[in-house]
Amino acid sequence: MRVLVTGGCGFIGSNFIRYFLMTYPEAAIINVDRLTYAGNVENLSDLSPSSRYHFVKGDISDSLRMEELIQEGVDAIVNFAAESHVDRSIEDPGAFMKTNVFGTFVLLEAVRKIYSKRSIRFLHVSTDEVYGSLGETGAFTEETPLAPNSPYSASKTAADVLARAYYRTYGLPILVTRCSNNYGPYQFPEKLIPLMISNAVEDREVPIYGDGMNVRDWIYVDDHCRGLDTVLRYGKEGEFYNIGGRSERTNLSVAKTVLDCLGKPHSLIRFVADRPGHDRRYAIDFSKIKKELGWEPLVSFEEGIKRTVEWYETHRDWWKRIKTGEYLTYYERMYRNR
Ligand code: NAD
Ligand code: TYD
Repeated sequence: MRVLVTGGCGFIGSNFIRYFLMTYPEAAIINVDRLTYAGNVENLSDLSPSSRYHFVKGDISDSLRMEELIQEGVDAIVNFAAESHVDRSIEDPGAFMKTNVFGTFVLLEAVRKIYSKRSIRFLHVSTDEVYGSLGETGAFTEETPLAPNSPYSASKTAADVLARAYYRTYGLPILVTRCSNNYGPYQFPEKLIPLMISNAVEDREVPIYGDGMNVRDWIYVDDHCRGLDTVLRYGKEGEFYNIGGRSERTNLSVAKTVLDCLGKPHSLIRFVADRPGHDRRYAIDFSKIKKELGWEPLVSFEEGIKRTVEWYETHRDWWKRIKTGEYLTYYERMYRNR
């Protein structure tokens, strides 16, 4: 199987590529990534270019380039490429519309053009944030109406329903997954868990928005990658699948768990101004994927946090180079003029 992965130099994409190549010795991956601030070629520096792994610097909104890549012969596309940080979308929504909405449209069009000659499964990696915010009870199912609240989640919703439209109108073999909050190795340290770990390791404060009572359902990234693989191989075309971690926690409780794991005092927690439009609670009902495809998360929150803290403690160079901005020059040295 030859798979085109978009956004493979980011957090989940890089974990997925490593997982996929290790799981399937016959598989080959082409990774196309624009290398925004969140794309880091160091995330895959253990994979050398080979017949099984090929990196291309490119933008998913570049239609000619995407058509070229797809026509080279791929069996499937897994679309991770996105602007992914809610706080940045509040500051500057434009980039989110361009990549998340227009970029997904470009990929769908490229598949539509080639579809009469060759079938390509298109897995679009969406998010539970398309459903908006929950009250004290209940969980998102695939039938929950879409009600995004941030520019990020609105742009992901647009992409998600575009994918649906391409299935309904053109019959393209589309699959969409909507996953909850991921954590694990290689997550950019602007996101809650790696930000807390990397700050606390250096005895710096850990910022918590508002009252810290917002709830997220946390999933260890390996579980998400296995879920994506399951949907890519066995999912039914035109279907949407929720993927969740069975680990609902308040942000305050996550902070305390991380600090305890590092042996740091809770006094490092600092309550700061809330995020505008901050979703209160997410919870995922993943019974559909469990019942139909046999997937469920395997890593408990406590175990996942332990592994994640260990990884960040033993990979200080990785996140320090990000925090100083040094990682940006690595690409310049390695790939300029290619
Ligand atoms: P990330 O920000 O770590 O990585 C995104 C990657 O996309 C980066 O490598 C970046 O360089 C690349 N990219 C951005 N714009 C591009 C463009 N125009 N063309 C090509 N590449 C581009 O994000 P992540 O956390 O790994 O998330 C990956 C996907 O999973 C996203 O679509 C996100 O919406 C979705 N998702 C994330 C989570 C989560 O908790 N992180 C949960 C559910 C769904
Ligand atoms: P984040 O990792 O940005 O993911 P998302 O907003 O996509 O769920 O944030 C997770 C939760 O943590 C969210 O409720 C916002 C909160 N948060 C903080 O309290 N402090 C922080 O510094 C950050 C980045 C997030």
